[in-house]
Amino acid sequence: MTTTEPFGVYVHWPFCLAKCPYCDFNSHVRHAGVDQGRFVAAYLRELAHFATLAPGRTVSSVFFGGGTPSLMSPETVGAILDRIAELWTLSGDAEVTLEANPTSTEAGRFAGYRAAGVNRVSLGVQSLDDASLKALGRMHTSEEALAALAIAKRNFERVSFDLIYARQRQRLDDWRNELSRALDHARDHLSLYQLTIEPGTPFAALHEAGALVIPEGEDAEAFYLLTQELCDVAGLPSYEVSNHARPGAQSRHNLVYWRGHDYVGIGPGAHSRITQGGVKHEVAVRKSPETWLDTVTAKGHGIEHDETLSPQESADEYLLMGLRLAEGIDVKRLAAIDGRALDQQRIAQLEAQGLVKSHKGRLHATGAGRLVLDRLIVELAA
Ligand SMILES: C[S@@+](CC[C@H](N)C(=O)[O-])C[C@H]1O[C@@H](n2cnc3c(N)ncnc32)[C@H](O)[C@@H]1O
Ligand code: SF4
Repeated sequence: MTTTEPFGVYVHWPFCLAKCPYCDFNSHVRHAGVDQGRFVAAYLRELAHFATLAPGRTVSSVFFGGGTPSLMSPETVGAILDRIAELWTLSGDAEVTLEANPTSTEAGRFAGYRAAGVNRVSLGVQSLDDASLKALGRMHTSEEALAALAIAKRNFERVSFDLIYARQRQRLDDWRNELSRALDHARDHLSLYQLTIEPGTPFAALHEAGALVIPEGEDAEAFYLLTQELCDVAGLPSYEVSNHARPGAQSRHNLVYWRGHDYVGIGPGAHSRITQGGVKHEVAVRKSPETWLDTVTAKGHGIEHDETLSPQESADEYLLMGLRLAEGIDVKRLAAIDGRALDQQRIAQLEAQGLVKSHKGRLHATGAGRLVLDRLIVELAA
């Protein structure tokens, strides 16, 4: 590993104003309020601890994710960025993203975030249809979402937004119209997620009871293919299964994960990958916000898991993440991780089936391959 490799810092803010019924992220509602001052002090302490685990690096990207990080005050965001710059070198052109929910109060803070050092916003629009937003349990209308998007565009050069598709009762033509409208509003990046029924969520219970019917199987595939087609035409091709960008506008932070580089994650439930002495460590901190807070207050960090990854586990992870990307994986790099030479006969078979393509030392999944990515990864890792 060279220190010139990209290196990211992820900051998890685990609170939301309401819990959306489809969501299984580490996000919590605290009606009694959150003591932001105590949390900020804990973030600053945990950052200092992680700087001892990954010293001397140059931070190429910072990502405030959640939960709803746009509930953090700009001062909190600024204090965290200042501490990152003190502990590491913050690259002059670092990408600093904040995930925001499109309610008017939060959009009002965008100028403050920009002044604090944020230079990219990712907005959770989810849908441009009011009935669907209601069914998704969202607290904003499509008009509010578009207003927040306009404020984001005024404040930031780089703006992305998220939509969820293949929703309950959604027809392919509805999605065609909705995505076409969304593309008219898109700046340089879009995240388009197919609705996933996550175990343990209210949506899972409804789905199980037959009260929530979503496109599945070939129907879901048709939504995915239409999404690719419309985005390609609009000049925002997918560079990852669910992420689309104009050339050069990919999320540099998310590429750190998918390209298998190091990152530290602080805040409740955050994960890190840190290479020490040539060995990759998988580190995770406590998930419950209050337990995390108490642990950091007592010990200076909330780490509850620090395991080394074997070369084979590291290589599997690189394969798993890299095949999500349109650019695929670097075959030599994979071999350098665990000495593995991919089975050429199996690759030839998968190529003949139109699922993968080898080109100039790289291997990537084709459009058809991406539809069966889990199977591909199992076959290639075997
Ligand atoms: C960390 S979440 C949320 C960010 C922000 N709190 C919001 O809701 O706008 C990031 C994105 O994941 C997507 N997401 C969350 N749960 C999902 C699910 N079950 N299926 C598909 N997409 C989901 C949503 O598009 C969401 O904006
Ligand atoms: S989707 Fe966003 S706002 Fe809704 S519960 Fe999850 S993290 Fe919170």
